Amino acid sequence: MNICVIGTGYVGLVTGTVFAELGNDVICVDNDSSKIESLDRQVMPIYEPGLGELVERNHNEGRLRFSTDAKSAVEFAEIIFICVGTPSSDGGETDLSAVGAVAETIATHMNGYKIIVNKSTVPVGTGDMVKNIIRINCNADHQFDVVSNPEFLREGQAVHDALKPDRIIIGADEKRVAFKLLELYSSLQAPMIITDVYSAEIIKYASNSFLALKISFINAISNICELVGADVGDVANGVGRDPRIGAQFLSAGLGFGGSCFPKDVKSLLHTSGKLGYEFGLLKEVLEINDGRVDRFVALIRRRFPELRGKSFAVLGLSFKPNTDDMRDARSVEIIKALHGEGAVIRAFDPVAMNAAKKLLPPVAFCQNAYEACNGADAMLLITEWREFKLLNLEKIRRTMKSPVIFDGRNMYDPERKRRLGFEYFGLGRKSPNNRPEKGA
Ligand code: UGA
Repeated sequence: MNICVIGTGYVGLVTGTVFAELGNDVICVDNDSSKIESLDRQVMPIYEPGLGELVERNHNEGRLRFSTDAKSAVEFAEIIFICVGTPSSDGGETDLSAVGAVAETIATHMNGYKIIVNKSTVPVGTGDMVKNIIRINCNADHQFDVVSNPEFLREGQAVHDALKPDRIIIGADEKRVAFKLLELYSSLQAPMIITDVYSAEIIKYASNSFLALKISFINAISNICELVGADVGDVANGVGRDPRIGAQFLSAGLGFGGSCFPKDVKSLLHTSGKLGYEFGLLKEVLEINDGRVDRFVALIRRRFPELRGKSFAVLGLSFKPNTDDMRDARSVEIIKALHGEGAVIRAFDPVAMNAAKKLLPPVAFCQNAYEACNGADAMLLITEWREFKLLNLEKIRRTMKSPVIFDGRNMYDPERKRRLGFEYFGLGRKSPNNRPEKGA
């Protein structure tokens, strides 16, 4: 099939590339000409494992093209995917201006029947908005259908998730249109759920909000664990064995960041309020998450009452491992808080340091974790990159000023670190050092 994907961010670039990999002819469009030029030279705008190779192969074999020319791409395609950003405004409302602008562009260039598919994460009712914009802006009497087909890929595993989705959701008003999308996805072995447009739009927000809820829930449990000296890792293990609950997304720590969960929970909260339903549960999810950084910084302050002049090795800057994405990364808040009180920060991240430089106060960026820890009063583990698990901590201990670890992701085993001679602080972990004051 001839496909046009508008927007070459995470979702658009991965989606377009995977459609090409499945044998379709794909044009990915973006109005950022420097991005398109880089993609043409096969320079990836984001760090995403496996994506570069896939882009290169499909581009070289002629199935995947990049362009700023929306007109030609719209005329060429039977199916057009909208994959542009939907950021959050201050009140949590989703900014749909990019989606609206793309709908207008599509309308002006339509040369016949088109299926327009919304893949961006958009509040319920956006399908109607797109339909109206196209109707108003399309000069000729071209027929079209608008479909909602939300994306569930995770950064860092996006290629895997797009090629092996756990479900494909198609929200369409007509079966005929849904079947066209089914045909496009037919070579992927995944359950396909056909529903109406509103339900598909809600599925995406309900999924992300539920995952965020699981994280905040286990973080609230970890607060109780701290108060009584229990271990949240063991609790999560015991709870997650119940298949009705599931073991995933029960890792307590610094909470969720990134470009999706914080924005999507706020958006669902806003949408439900607008519809007349106060979704208080989601407010609590956000509040618990917002409290995680303060809790972590309080833990550090309790051990080091005078932060001025203390040197902290920050390991991991991106919002999660395997990405260079710094959006809503916990590292930024933590570093700003400590730096604001006069602490010296020595940071290392395997891929996110360039992106981080624009967001952080003056910090020393190091070549590796060993250099960051050299002479440090404590190590702060902020992002659980696998390479940090494999560090030679014996060697690190010898170079640190004082052997203290604050583990924001509960990645290390407290007992083993203690045996290695470290003072270990996690969040909700059973450890002799890990007793915050009651009510903290
Ligand atoms: C999330 C969803 O997992 C995807 O299904 C969805 O498609 C995507 O949002 C999106 O809407 O585009 P992503 O933001 O890439 O994907 O990252 P996740 O792996 O879900 O992690 C989100 C945050 O939760 C991270 O900050 C992570 O550190 C945190 N997290 C995750 C925890 O604190 N504990 C956990 O147990 C799991």
